[in-house]
Amino acid sequence: MSSYCIRESTAADMSAVSRLLDSTIGAGFWNQDELVCGQLLVADSDGSVVAVGAASLDEAEPNASGPVGHIRLVAVDALQRGQGIATALVRELMTWCHLGGATSYVAYAWVHGRGGTAPLAGALRRTGFYLNGRIERFYAGAGPDSCPACSSVPCECPAEVYWCGPSWTDK
Ligand SMILES: CC(C)(COP(=O)(O)OP(=O)(O)OC[C@H]1O[C@@H](n2cnc3c(N)ncnc32)[C@H](O)[C@@H]1OP(=O)(O)O)[C@@H](O)C(=O)NCCC(=O)NCCS
Repeated sequence: MSSYCIRESTAADMSAVSRLLDSTIGAGFWNQDELVCGQLLVADSDGSVVAVGAASLDEAEPNASGPVGHIRLVAVDALQRGQGIATALVRELMTWCHLGGATSYVAYAWVHGRGGTAPLAGALRRTGFYLNGRIERFYAGAGPDSCPACSSVPCECPAEVYWCGPSWTDK
């Protein structure tokens, strides 16, 4: 297990961030806008970017008490998985959202293939999220490349919707 620290990204990280997202999520399955719409954190191990997490504050319904914290991207280098880095990134991103006024949080967790699982689900549950829905073919509008999980064009992977905060029915 290697040591790492989580820190805000800098301009010097951007090419490493892009390479990591291309290799973990797939070229065409993430976009630059997701990196600049809020907070972008990296996990740094001995000067190398080994994980990326991004979040934004999204506008909520008119009567909501604040914006919704949206966990947009979480990706960890394949060699660095299973040591809690994604969980730590989600926790830090939620803190950033909370400081920005969020009292509820949402994440769309990539389900790898139609009959597959969402590798991010455990990290989301550990940080207080619960499963709130599922959207079939969520990534069907992604780029022309085949999906690294289902190998289809267009992508057939669903997304699980995770929520943390007052339930929709409490509103
Ligand atoms: C999904 C992903 C980000 C998870 O990253 P990770 O750093 O391995 O996640 P964590 O280490 O926090 O949790 C993974 C497993 O590690 C183990 N683990 C968690 N914390 C741990 C710790 N402190 N020490 C040891 N093991 C730990 C658990 O077994 C956990 O399994 P579970 O989540 O099924 O309960 C990573 O697999 C990935 O990048 N996948 C490809 C891209 C992707 O699908 N991203 C999500 C897009 S929505």
